[in-house]
Amino acid sequence: MDLYRGTISKRDRRAFLPQPISDESLRRILRAGRMTPSSKNSEPNRFIVVRSPEGKRALANLSPMAQWLADAAVVIVIAQVREHPFDAGRCAQNMMLAAFNDGIGSCPAHLPEEALRELLAIPPDVFINRVIGFGYIDPENAGPPPAVARRRKPLEELVHSERWGQSAPFLAPPAEQRP
Ligand SMILES: Cc1cc2nc3c(=O)[nH]c(=O)nc-3n(C[C@H](O)[C@H](O)[C@H](O)COP(=O)(O)O)c2cc1C
Repeated sequence: MDLYRGTISKRDRRAFLPQPISDESLRRILRAGRMTPSSKNSEPNRFIVVRSPEGKRALANLSPMAQWLADAAVVIVIAQVREHPFDAGRCAQNMMLAAFNDGIGSCPAHLPEEALRELLAIPPDVFINRVIGFGYIDPENAGPPPAVARRRKPLEELVHSERWGQSAPFLAPPAEQRP
């Protein structure tokens, strides 16, 4: 998959086929996480991989907004031995894009931290960043929930040129480059 096309076409997925992810694909996802660059190359990210049906169900039960985690093939929790949200965010997107390259969809979830810590026995000095569910995309149910289904804001609203508030002349169309 072309890296640019893959990056701009990856959307979060919460409906998955009942199909397991092979160990090889899982290793590819984890390797993509491992290779995440980090501040001073300090590699703060750690991964808790949950594959058992009861483990995934227990995670899903922690939030009404994350019920779909029970149907994921794999849930990965990104924890950090040193708190660095930027490094965790890069790691999450690295893993989700590597998965997407293998036809595997994914979505981050927010779960209540203390309940999650207790459930997975995460030590008190380890920071919890994010929970991500992975599974093969169900094409029949690929759309996002209506609450969050909308197009991205136009670039003109997001980009400032040289200083805040100044519009960017380089944004003029080529329509084919506008996802
Ligand atoms: C930090 C974070 C937490 C999120 N938590 C949840 C969640 O608890 N449940 C959920 O269904 N989606 C969750 N999402 C997914 C967002 O709703 C999604 O990224 C956004 O709607 C864009 O989706 P799209 O790729 O389909 O456009 C979360 C995303 C982020 C970045």
